[in-house]
Amino acid sequence: MAIKQKLQPLIERSDQQLNLLLSDTHSSSEQLLTAMRYSIFNGGKRIRPVLVYAAGQALNCPAQYCDAPAAAVEMIHAYSLIHDDLPAMDDDNLRRGKPTCHIQYDEATAILAGDALQTSAFAALTDAKNQPGQLQLLQELVQASGSLGMVAGQMIDLASVGKSLSLAELENMHRHKTGALIRASVRMGAIAGGADSQQLNALTQYAEALGLAFQVQDDILDVESDTETLGKQQGADIALNKPTYVSLLGLEQAKEKARLLVENAEQSLNDFGPEADLLRELARYVIERDH
Ligand code: IPE
Ligand code: IPE
Ligand code: MG
Ligand code: MG
Ligand code: MG
Repeated sequence: MAIKQKLQPLIERSDQQLNLLLSDTHSSSEQLLTAMRYSIFNGGKRIRPVLVYAAGQALNCPAQYCDAPAAAVEMIHAYSLIHDDLPAMDDDNLRRGKPTCHIQYDEATAILAGDALQTSAFAALTDAKNQPGQLQLLQELVQASGSLGMVAGQMIDLASVGKSLSLAELENMHRHKTGALIRASVRMGAIAGGADSQQLNALTQYAEALGLAFQVQDDILDVESDTETLGKQQGADIALNKPTYVSLLGLEQAKEKARLLVENAEQSLNDFGPEADLLRELARYVIERDH
């Protein structure tokens, strides 16, 4: 079965959760909720929720224990994209093939929709009933999202515009801005599934390699793909003079780097049996994807 078909039920499951969490009663402002829902239900690949479920599967964890962390990480991701696209940051007008949140509504609404999605993500975890590992899941998402994770990465990214970074500096930026949430996705699935420390270490190694590969591929697609396929403006990194793997290493070496990282990710799963096959396939999908 093709990977996309395998992912479909997990994507639908995650969308159902997000729909329930962001229901009519979720906000006292209809305008705010409309903007939050616009940026959640606009066709994302849902790679982070899928990674939560796939890591859970690797530990034979019932999917219901992964529902809250899967929804939570996607809400943090959606908030990060809304803010990433703002004029003060990457100033993009296209996201997932549609106008970005601040174009569709206005900047203030986009800022607030991002703020609220962030809070709602943590609410999804605090409000989850009978959630195994609840406090640890919260700690995981807090660490990955904020000043030690994604937000720090975004700051490093913006402070690096027009600078030539070393490979180590670039990797540090990528590990934070993109790697942190991907790492948290896998670790949250593992925590919900009751992983022991050895299993958690192996899955963390998988996730760190995968998270870096994911951003390397994002950099490659910015150069190689086209705006329609990407659903976001092709060439945006070059236009903004952003340091990327491609600008530093060139296209071929960037591709080689992504391939090696995916190999590393797969090797980290050597102690797991077929229950980790979806994680293995996801690793390959990350560098085979075209958007
Ligand atoms: C885009 O993430 C931003 C990065 C962190 C590289 P995705 O490629 O997962 O975006 P969606 O959710 O599918 O739109
Ligand atoms: C975005 O990185 C990372 C986060 C939103 C945290 P990019 O700026 O490269 O993402 P795209 O290319 O706009 O999706
Ligand atoms: Mg950016
Ligand atoms: Mg961007
Ligand atoms: Mg990008």
